[in-house]
Amino acid sequence: MWASLDVVIMAAGKGTRMKSARPKVLHQLGGRPLLGHVVEAVVGLKPRRVIVVTGHGAIEIEAGQQALAGAAGQFAMESDMAGRLAYVRQEPQLGTGHAVQQAAPMLGDDGLTLVLNGDVPLIRTATLQALVQACAGERLALLTLQVADASGYGRILRDAAGAVQGIVEHKDATPEQRRIGEFYTGSMAAPTRQLKAWLAGLTNRNAQGEYYLTDVVAAAVAGGTPVVAVQPQDADEVAGVNSPVQLAELERALQRRRALALMEAGVRLADPARFDLRGTLVCGTDVEIDVNCVFEGQVSLGDGVHVGANCVIANATIAAGAVIHPMTHIDGGDTGVTVGEDAIVGPFARLRPGAQLGAQVHIGNFVEVKNATLARGAKANHLAYLGDAAVGERVNYGAGAITANYDGANKHRTVIGADVHVGSNAVLVAPVNLGAGGTVGAGSVISKDAPDGALSVARGRQVNIANWKRPAKKPKS
Ligand code: UD1
Ligand code: CA
Repeated sequence: MWASLDVVIMAAGKGTRMKSARPKVLHQLGGRPLLGHVVEAVVGLKPRRVIVVTGHGAIEIEAGQQALAGAAGQFAMESDMAGRLAYVRQEPQLGTGHAVQQAAPMLGDDGLTLVLNGDVPLIRTATLQALVQACAGERLALLTLQVADASGYGRILRDAAGAVQGIVEHKDATPEQRRIGEFYTGSMAAPTRQLKAWLAGLTNRNAQGEYYLTDVVAAAVAGGTPVVAVQPQDADEVAGVNSPVQLAELERALQRRRALALMEAGVRLADPARFDLRGTLVCGTDVEIDVNCVFEGQVSLGDGVHVGANCVIANATIAAGAVIHPMTHIDGGDTGVTVGEDAIVGPFARLRPGAQLGAQVHIGNFVEVKNATLARGAKANHLAYLGDAAVGERVNYGAGAITANYDGANKHRTVIGADVHVGSNAVLVAPVNLGAGGTVGAGSVISKDAPDGALSVARGRQVNIANWKRPAKKPKS
């Protein structure tokens, strides 16, 4: 929009009230660090530069890409944006005005500068756009909000005609000024050349002994630059995170936004207040999601997918018509999980990285699948483990059967041909191949390959002793 827009994000503060070793702006909201949300909001403005001012926790914050992309890398930025991101240190931290002073040498005189707080994650791109438009390279534009009680914030001072005259910080304000409900939210847009001049004139003669960015307002008025105020769509947009309680409140606000967006697209959430998305979720039509489900990383749900209550699903692609019953845990990790069309998974199933279920596969309760392919119609319905395996079409994998895939040093593969029946409690000692159409007797320990169509039994033979008398209890003496 503005070819010469530079953005400064202040993130040098300590965040004392979080009582955490982690820098405040790296605390997670919806699976992504606070700072990542702010950067995401400015990406849409196509800024020339985004300068993050760091101090406390600078090294961790400057680790950059990973810090912004979310734990699973699910929010990676376009590489073109990553190239525009720069960090500048503020040490020691002498106030918000001092923070912007550190970034000033990197700001182009020809343009305009947007200043944001790194700990205000729900700011909308549209609101920032309105702020930048109000500035238009010639006015100082402030993002303000009117509330009943603005305690703690910098208050907006206006003259009798309503023109903005300045900002007074709460600690410097008179009792009368403290009754003002309009406060400065921490975001402003300014013509860069003027901003630099105002910054150069700041002093720290105030209640906190800090260089206040907010003092640039009075300087603008004194110099004849018009000051305008713009309001956000809602209060959540300008809410900062200072404590674990506020972090949790904004988490719910973010989740509600995400839930509403999905429902507007036709997804049926049983309860938007009991839904958590910590990544990206792509849904087809007629998707239904019951309560208390958590989605992480990148998940896609095809047309008509039903997800039961209390499922945790990460990095998975679930095809049309599949049903995920309650209490199922799917974690695709780095390799992903795929669930085929009309498959049925759970309740209480666990799919781990590399589980690839074909169409109409059934995975039942207490069944674990890892790095294994199950072809169309294969079933493992109860209490089983399939790891490092290729399972053919229509295989029936009995209750309690497991692949012994690990010899203590290496993993080995198990290949089960189409239409094999694996009896209950069988142990398939990998590497092993079971030919198509074969049958494995219950309780067998299979350590050799079996040809197609064979019955394989590997267990102690049953012995029946006729008329066996059970030991009787001795009479009491
Ligand atoms: C600031 C505003 C206040 C406004 C409020 C909105 C000033 C002087 N006051 O107050 O008018 O109502 O935000 O939330 O600007 N930071 C640095 N370096 C510093 C100090 C702060 O990078 O030396 C960063 C913090 O990490 C934070 C942001 O600046 O991201 C705001 O700092 P904070 O201490 O929260 O400002 P407030 O005193 O709340
Ligand atoms: Ca603050």
